[in-house]
Amino acid sequence: MNDATDICDPIIKFDKVVKRFGDHVVLDELDFEVQRGEKVTIIGPSGSGKSTVLRILMTLEKINDGVVYVGGEPLWHQRKGESLEPAGEQHLRQMRSHLGMVFQQFNLFPHMTVLRNLTEAPVQVLGVSKAEARKRGMELLEMVGLTDQADKYPHQLSGGQQQR
Ligand SMILES: Nc1ncnc2c1ncn2[C@@H]1O[C@H](COP(=O)(O)OP(=O)(O)O)[C@@H](O)[C@H]1O
Ligand SMILES: [Mg+2]
Repeated sequence: MNDATDICDPIIKFDKVVKRFGDHVVLDELDFEVQRGEKVTIIGPSGSGKSTVLRILMTLEKINDGVVYVGGEPLWHQRKGESLEPAGEQHLRQMRSHLGMVFQQFNLFPHMTVLRNLTEAPVQVLGVSKAEARKRGMELLEMVGLTDQADKYPHQLSGGQQQR
């Protein structure tokens, strides 16, 4: 993210985050941090706010109070001098480019190869060249040990391989 981001900063930080639906306070000054490389599991009863935390992080749900930081940058706010003001659409779009989510039930295009599933969006949405997208796609497959599956179709992969 920001070049000034310290490697020791938490990658995610919730600072007294409040989320209400009407009178129903779902998150009541929630504080937590996730360090770079740390893996965190959120557990709790149904309706306790787990999905709400994730939806806030994915910028799908606004917060009522507090600040969320991603990579040291406020997610729902933008800096104005010393203070924070509510984020505009451009700031949110910029932040979204650093955020990702894998659904338990995810969607791969069944009629496209593994590699094409990776290259389609960068090419069509971001305007990346096909060659560049394929190069990056292969790098990503290498990271998750799937280079030999690049030309297979989703149904030829195990559930875990699909998720990777
Ligand atoms: N869009 C919404 N409008 C009103 N209430 C909501 C909305 N989304 C979630 N809630 C309420 O917020 C609480 C937390 O929901 P959620 O984060 O989905 O819980 P969990 O994922 O832990 O089961 C629940 O009481 C739920 O009914
Ligand atoms: Mg849930």
